[in-house]
Amino acid sequence: MAEILNAAELDSLLSEAGAADVATGEALESFRIAYFGRQGVLKSLNERFREVPREQKREMGQALNAFKDALQSLFDEASSALVAGQDAQTSGQDPTLPSGAVPVGSHHPLSLVRREILDIFARMGFVVADGPEIEDDWHVFSGLNFPEEHPARDMQDTFFVQRDPDLLLRTHTSSVQVREMERRDPPYRLVMPGRVFRNEAISARAHCIFHQVEGLYIDKGVGFADMKQTLLMFAQQLFGSDVKIRLRPSYFPFTEPSAEMDVYWGLKTEVDKRITKGTGWLEIMGCGMVDPAVLEASGIDPEVYSGFAFGMGIERIAMLKWQIGDLRLFFENDMRFTSQFTGG
Ligand code: PHE
Repeated sequence: MAEILNAAELDSLLSEAGAADVATGEALESFRIAYFGRQGVLKSLNERFREVPREQKREMGQALNAFKDALQSLFDEASSALVAGQDAQTSGQDPTLPSGAVPVGSHHPLSLVRREILDIFARMGFVVADGPEIEDDWHVFSGLNFPEEHPARDMQDTFFVQRDPDLLLRTHTSSVQVREMERRDPPYRLVMPGRVFRNEAISARAHCIFHQVEGLYIDKGVGFADMKQTLLMFAQQLFGSDVKIRLRPSYFPFTEPSAEMDVYWGLKTEVDKRITKGTGWLEIMGCGMVDPAVLEASGIDPEVYSGFAFGMGIERIAMLKWQIGDLRLFFENDMRFTSQFTGG
């Protein structure tokens, strides 16, 4: 029978194991079998541990456990060194390094602004409605009281898909107003976001494709003061409570009276002057009381109902919000630009 197990023997076994060849897969496998195998060193040490006198059991047990742990570490280290070495040979990389960060996507600035606009109006009871981008003459012009010879119908402004009957790309989201008035019974508060198209030269201030959010509020006894208050509240929520706005009288065929709402941008730099045409103010929306003729054309009794409508450019608002000087940046899809924006 073998000698009683003792600490000195474990020490020398461990230094023997530490010196063993584990540099190749084959050598490591022999090591594993020799030490951890069914007839290996650990097995026989465990058997011999039974013979240790009771008074030494506690101490020897601890020594044996420490020996097992040390042996396991030797094995683990050798096996990861082996894997790393193989990998380095094939790819020149160290697989034990942490992996690179997974790139996280970001929202386009126009999406962020649209969402914020819709959220503000949602809190005031406006729900979202949608309409087609390819429209007919009725919904874009005739139903909105545009006279037959109105310049907005001109080839210069409108992209026609087909002539007579006319199919065209909508030049504004007011077409969705007509669709909604035709299919719903008042009262309602609607916001209608969408893409619009105009045959215009592309510059820092204009593009042939841009985005609008349209609004429509129809009820009994709605007046101009309701519109002004709604739009002021909107501007305060979007730009902060100290925002400066102004309403200028204007003209649209489908609203009476009509106005344009400006937000103060500033006149400090050359860019400010160029963007605001030297006034410091930037127009962000058209608005007005829905013309009774428009209500009537959509089957709403103007003696009973009144309402207001507004339409704003999303690009303009994004430019104000982030002080962006050139509208074209929104359409170039350069991720160095589009990935800079967060929040809503
Ligand atoms: N449709 C107008 C435009 O595109 C904006 C507008 C909408 C004006 C609603 C008044 C009411 O310029």
